[in-house]
Amino acid sequence: MEKKFKRTTVTSALPYANGPVHIGHLAGVYVPADIYVRYLRLKGEDVLFIGGSDEHGVPITIRARKEGVTPQDVVDRYHKLIKDSFEEFGISFDVYGRTTSQVHRETASAFFRTLYDKGEFVEKTSMQYYDEEAHTFLADRYITGECPHCHAEGAYGDQCEKCGTALSPTELINPKSAISGSKPVMRETKHWYLPLDQHEAWLRQWILEEHKEWRNNVYGQCKSWLDMGLQPRAVSRDLDWGIPVPVEGAEGKVLYVWFDAPIGYISNTKELLPDTWEKWWKDPETRLVHFIGKDNIVFHCIVFPAMLKAEGSYILPDNVPANEFLNLEGDKISTSRNWAVWLHEYLRDFPGKQDVLRYVLTANAPETKDNDFTWKDFQARNNNELVAVYGNFVNRALQLTQKYYDGVVPVCGELTDYDRQTLDEFKDVKGKVEELLDAFKFRDAQKEAMNLARIGNKYIADCEPWKVVKTDAERVKTIIYISLQLTANLAIAFEPFLPFSSRKLRGMLNMDSFDWDQLGRTDLLQPGHQLAKPELLFEKIEDDVIEAQIQKLLDTKKANEAASYKAKPIRETIAFEDFQKLDIRVGTVLECTKVPKADKLLCFKIDDGLECRTIVSGISKYYKPEELVGKQVCFIANLPPRKLKGIESQGMILSALNYDDTLSVITVDREVKPGAEVC
Ligand code: MF3
Ligand code: ZN
Repeated sequence: MEKKFKRTTVTSALPYANGPVHIGHLAGVYVPADIYVRYLRLKGEDVLFIGGSDEHGVPITIRARKEGVTPQDVVDRYHKLIKDSFEEFGISFDVYGRTTSQVHRETASAFFRTLYDKGEFVEKTSMQYYDEEAHTFLADRYITGECPHCHAEGAYGDQCEKCGTALSPTELINPKSAISGSKPVMRETKHWYLPLDQHEAWLRQWILEEHKEWRNNVYGQCKSWLDMGLQPRAVSRDLDWGIPVPVEGAEGKVLYVWFDAPIGYISNTKELLPDTWEKWWKDPETRLVHFIGKDNIVFHCIVFPAMLKAEGSYILPDNVPANEFLNLEGDKISTSRNWAVWLHEYLRDFPGKQDVLRYVLTANAPETKDNDFTWKDFQARNNNELVAVYGNFVNRALQLTQKYYDGVVPVCGELTDYDRQTLDEFKDVKGKVEELLDAFKFRDAQKEAMNLARIGNKYIADCEPWKVVKTDAERVKTIIYISLQLTANLAIAFEPFLPFSSRKLRGMLNMDSFDWDQLGRTDLLQPGHQLAKPELLFEKIEDDVIEAQIQKLLDTKKANEAASYKAKPIRETIAFEDFQKLDIRVGTVLECTKVPKADKLLCFKIDDGLECRTIVSGISKYYKPEELVGKQVCFIANLPPRKLKGIESQGMILSALNYDDTLSVITVDREVKPGAEVC
């Protein structure tokens, strides 16, 4: 049976304040959460939307060390950048806090202490790498060495970035401390563990039996964790960045970032509502929903609920609608490889087009599988859907009202069967959108909203008011009246998805009060109501703008290839005599021309000191013929002649093969006499 709830607490994963946010964050977590929250608010429900930055964890300390600043400097910078980006995209948090706040320190610390006092932890000692020069235990990320699988250098203690294998620090060959460079030693250390194994039974019942409605990907991941058997998890770390473990004898130890971060949802609520926060977290009539990406599932469905349960006074999440990942132009989004569309850069390149990105990301939301963002698709959805369907319908309805009635809503006459049929179709949409949003199917819900605009477009195209006006002025009033009601409905239906456009549209309609229940009604704008001046809701995005974005990504790809280029291993040793058999000479290029009907080939005439030699070479992609004339090049002079496209080639010009498969002809550093031997 459906439970009745009084209010909803919505959280969205706290992004690490370790870099800017990108479209993957937006698509995976923040846009769906925002759609959901806006929808609930529009329905008049009691809802709280919690966000914030996750400011602890090892990667932040690594970044700080690299940049020669403090971890606090790093999180201050990115917290601000991230917060601003979300604000600009209309992500309507009620609070956006941070885990370095005083309230959070106290809350997380007290939470730990409660569990500690209740005996909910087990203490264990284990052996861990220790840096004797820097006098500190080393987090997995702080140990580098050779990957035992692909033998790449610089693999981390938790993962080799080259081959992607998950590692533990003891597997690394020749481990080195990333702090001092010294060889780490094993030392004993004590930590507190949350004994998840002891929570397994109720977690199984709660998730696998009582929450079969969770998304398949979420339910499936939980099931596989539970089936593997849960292990105790350390909730403390040897680190100097984080919240100190509030227990005697825990000097130099902090709470594990995944212990403190989810408590951040609670602290941020407290920050906003110091007196009434508890009802949002402890009242069984409150529904708790976590929006996250798939890499966070185990923490939100297993670890955090176990923490909440162990504490004893908290509610558990009702749903955890996790998304899969969004890829970019076919490749995994990656901060370290700069393979991303950063929100602050999008805002600079596409000012005022926040809704376009929101729309495209929802249309491609990775709800059931990983999905791909491409710039071509972005352009197509803007031009063919937002401009050609939604924008076009609204613009027609408003322009015709201006033209025929000076922007005043006309009186509705008698309805035809076709009018009724259109309105009926229209009224169905509300129920459909609701059902989909309640089931966290944002992509389909947005499609239904767009369908409203399609219905409107078809209606106006079928009714042809611009023709009817010549014969039946009364009928045109009805057509425009209906079109305007549909337009007002669009402003409501799209508000959760495209809040900026909805606001603009409401402005054009002079429509000040609106709520979800009005959706489907046909009396939203009364006859005689004056509309404001119409403007375009969306504008076409031209090819050159899209090409520039694609080029930017291609440049990134090139830079990454260059950065990761590794020279091929040297071939097996040959006899010196074998080398001596090669007759390599320098010659001066006298002439160079394209070979007709062979787009790869250039034909050279070369002065080799004895005669004029012809050599055909496949480097036309890399050189214009005139570029090489007059240059001195190296070539193998004693190869048997070969026919290429009917030309006899007497030798081979030497080039260097670059990492990106381009060729660079080998020339000499000082001019020599043609025919000089290369030795
Ligand atoms: N910072 C984490 C990430 O980006 C998410 C933390 S969610 C919270 O993957 F629950 F811990 F806050
Ligand atoms: Zn590897």
